[in-house]
Amino acid sequence: MKISDETIDRVKSARSIVFFTGAGISAESGIPVFRGKDGLWSKLKPEELANFDALLKNPKMVWEWYEHRKYIMKESKPNSAHLAISEFQNYFPEVTVATQNIDNLHRRAGSKTVYELHGNIERNYCINCHTFYNNDVPFVDGIPKCKCGGLIRPDVVWFGEFLPQDQFNASEKASEDCDVFFIIGTSAVVYPAASLIYTAKAGKAYLIEINIESTEASHIVDESYFGKAGEVLPAILEKIKN
Ligand code: APR
Repeated sequence: MKISDETIDRVKSARSIVFFTGAGISAESGIPVFRGKDGLWSKLKPEELANFDALLKNPKMVWEWYEHRKYIMKESKPNSAHLAISEFQNYFPEVTVATQNIDNLHRRAGSKTVYELHGNIERNYCINCHTFYNNDVPFVDGIPKCKCGGLIRPDVVWFGEFLPQDQFNASEKASEDCDVFFIIGTSAVVYPAASLIYTAKAGKAYLIEINIESTEASHIVDESYFGKAGEVLPAILEKIKN
């Protein structure tokens, strides 16, 4: 993969770098993406699985789906893209990850500043008393029940729900201030997460997209690399290190 001189100069002279990531960065870890030909939403209906009404209507089905996803994510490992982002921390004073992913792979790869815009599948909470549970959730007749009797849900942001304000605000601030903003493995169609791209654009950031195809963001980025995140990011890091 040829890395341009412009990318190398911009990244090398950066002080603050933001990596805005989506499901595509975890595809090479074996975690399915949502959109596109093999995407989850081409086989399943998000409105039946990834929203609060679905949990109330059919808690067993929603939980079976999340148990399945928890298992896949627990068995998966950070790939070379996650690891490269973590290694960037050795060369730059400010490296921030703003991820739409709930798989915890950036943290497991060693990234320290990670804002989880859509939550984390390894956390759960009671919709009644908000008690937090990690993955040993108590079940009563196949339904996750809190000691207060309330239903337990995964701590992930469902369609139509607000993002965790602290995570989004911190991501916005980092996007406003950064010198380089990477957009990696996201179709850039889900808001308000995707608005970070425009926040970075309105600031002083140089925008670099890494994706296997063009996206909604491709028309405004400064450079696009069409390739797998697990190949392009390590190639950029190698150029920076030399
Ligand atoms: N390397 C880089 N990009 C890749 C790779 C790869 N190996 N494999 C797939 N991609 C790209 C696809 O081309 C696509 O543009 O990753 C993107 C995945 O897009 P989506 O499936 O839409 O995932 P994402 O953008 O993260 O979705 C945003 O939507 O369903 C909700 O809450 C869910 O956080 C998710 C949000």
